[in-house]
Amino acid sequence: MKLLIGRSDKDFAEIGAQYIAKFIRGNPQSLLCLAAGDTPLGMYKRLVELQHQGEVDLNSVYYVGLDEWVGIGYETKGSCMQVMMDGFYGPAQIRPENMRVFNGLAENMEEECAQVEQWVADHGGIGMTLLGIGMNGHVGFNEPYTDPQKSIVLHDLDNVTEQVGKKYFDGKSCPTQGVTIGIRLLSGAKQVCLVASGAKKAPILRKSLMEDPTVAVPASLMQLHEQLTVIMDQEAFRAL
Ligand code: PGA
Repeated sequence: MKLLIGRSDKDFAEIGAQYIAKFIRGNPQSLLCLAAGDTPLGMYKRLVELQHQGEVDLNSVYYVGLDEWVGIGYETKGSCMQVMMDGFYGPAQIRPENMRVFNGLAENMEEECAQVEQWVADHGGIGMTLLGIGMNGHVGFNEPYTDPQKSIVLHDLDNVTEQVGKKYFDGKSCPTQGVTIGIRLLSGAKQVCLVASGAKKAPILRKSLMEDPTVAVPASLMQLHEQLTVIMDQEAFRAL
């Protein structure tokens, strides 16, 4: 496990952007699975700047969405799709044919899951995934006690996720189900990067990295990955 610590927000974003850019340069044509959420947004912004500076071609790889709230889509502020379109895919000018994200409004969610799984298989599996850590230890919408053998999972959301999730929806209640790339596919990635920032994430980061891996804390299962990098800021690092 490799730990990288950002000394400021800018440094945290820089480390993350450089990590992603390096992976892309070394693995063109590969499939990336990048988390939505607040934590990595600065990294994506910096990554787009690196593209403008000619240091990386973000269209040389493919993308799969990590997760989505079930019952909402791009039109809803707070959806993972909108967060990623505004925060990354749009500014990076990612070609639509280079990405496949979950449609939370799909009429047949089983079929949607099967199509996303096929997209991952068609691209040789996930090359690199960058994951935030939920306050309950979730990664994507792999909630506590998720089945780690599943490739794609449709989950009823944990109470913590529903409470914390309000921040994406202007304080209003959020959907009660989520769909996500499962632990099986995430663990099969060539490289896994966990990102965490802020004092509020310190306790769950400690559990995820320093206690035995357990399905009760899905992020802790990533300890088992041989190519795990964890990028954190000083506040999150403090509890380690
Ligand atoms: P955050 O979300 O980056 O907004 O803290 C992380 C998560 O809940 O997965």
